[in-house]
Amino acid sequence: MSRKVIPVAAAARGLALPPTDGVRAGEPVADTLGRRVRDLRISVTDRCNFRCRYCMPREVFGEDYPFLPHGEILTFEEIVRVARLFRGHGVAKIRLTGGEPLLRRGVEDLVAMLSRELPGADLTLTTNGSALRAKAAALRAAGLHRITVSLDSLDDATFRAMNDADFPVARVLEAIDAAAAEGLAPVKVNMVVKRGVNDHEVVAMAGRFRGTGHILRFIEYMDVGATNGWRMDDVVPSAEIVRRVNEAFACEPVNPNHFGEVAKRWRYKDGQGEFGIISSVTQAFCATCNRARLSTDGMLYTCLFADQGHDLRALLRGGASDEDLASALAAVWRHRGDRYSEIRTAETARARKVEMSYIGG
Ligand code: GTP
Ligand code: 5AD
Ligand code: SF4
Ligand code: SF4
Repeated sequence: MSRKVIPVAAAARGLALPPTDGVRAGEPVADTLGRRVRDLRISVTDRCNFRCRYCMPREVFGEDYPFLPHGEILTFEEIVRVARLFRGHGVAKIRLTGGEPLLRRGVEDLVAMLSRELPGADLTLTTNGSALRAKAAALRAAGLHRITVSLDSLDDATFRAMNDADFPVARVLEAIDAAAAEGLAPVKVNMVVKRGVNDHEVVAMAGRFRGTGHILRFIEYMDVGATNGWRMDDVVPSAEIVRRVNEAFACEPVNPNHFGEVAKRWRYKDGQGEFGIISSVTQAFCATCNRARLSTDGMLYTCLFADQGHDLRALLRGGASDEDLASALAAVWRHRGDRYSEIRTAETARARKVEMSYIGG
């Protein structure tokens, strides 16, 4: 097997790139646990106009927080290049995230470029919904297929407290309907459930979205990053969530749409649609994890809970050829053995990890 060193300046940041071992552009790759890469999540900005307590607490992400300067952020051309090469290795879905991706100027142009360069890929985006109403038509016209909107509460006071930016819930609800009307459907609605904060709204949320065509997903509160003060006591286990929903609206499990789907699907027995449950804490799904993450500044992470990534920007800006880059992506994926959620302990939960706003949800 040939071992090749990529002819660019040694990566100054992050983990050293593993040696490439003969995988070429356009070949599928599997990691050390046999998992193939399928999903590429791209963070297009580390900034957000919300300060959700569980993600960007204001005490940490304050006025003087050192967000990335413009020159350190990947350009659209660089992002598309990485995405195109990953597509060759088997990526079928691209998700744009942040921070808040709609804050990145011209993000619809990036969508258009991805749509053109990666025909056939599922193209989607996760947003807090604050700027979605204004952008939905342009995103759809640019080729976005679907959208996911974060929404943790229907109660205006609780929502404003959770986003800590005094943003009204009505505007997000309007944006969800506007996005669906533009054809970005079904809209998925993500509710992070935190005990004692919004768990009393589980049934109300189910009731609000049943029969609308939108798909609500309940997410167990996770220990991402190192700033949200996560405690196991704050997690509402997915079994409890399903039990509460089922008491109000009888429901039953449904088969996944595809192998490795993150959310477990449930359907209302009266035909009013479905909801999902994402149980990263109580029922880890690492065994089928097929997700690679590209940070705003071009670091490649193979786990949401990583503390370091591989510096692709050094390659992109150091003159690497497509073949060099494709080999590097393959090498990183092939060395991957991540399964953080399966091995989580109170101690790992406190460990240094990258923040979700930077790596992308
Ligand atoms: P679709 O169902 O195809 O729309 O995508 P998805 O399930 O990936 O949805 P989305 O990107 O909205 O992910 C939902 C949430 O699940 C994320 O915001 C995270 O909170 C969580 N999540 C997604 N991927 C991972 C992962 O790899 N590990 C863990 N622990 N959580 C994840
Ligand atoms: N636990 C679970 N989900 C989280 N999100 C952000 N932080 C956390 C966390 N600590 C969710 C957001 C959004 C998606 C990108 O990730 O609510 O829907
Ligand atoms: Fe912003 Fe989303 Fe994080 Fe909330 S969860 S602070 S909306 S990136
Ligand atoms: Fe994948 Fe890491 Fe999440 Fe497990 S914890 S599902 S390996 S991203």
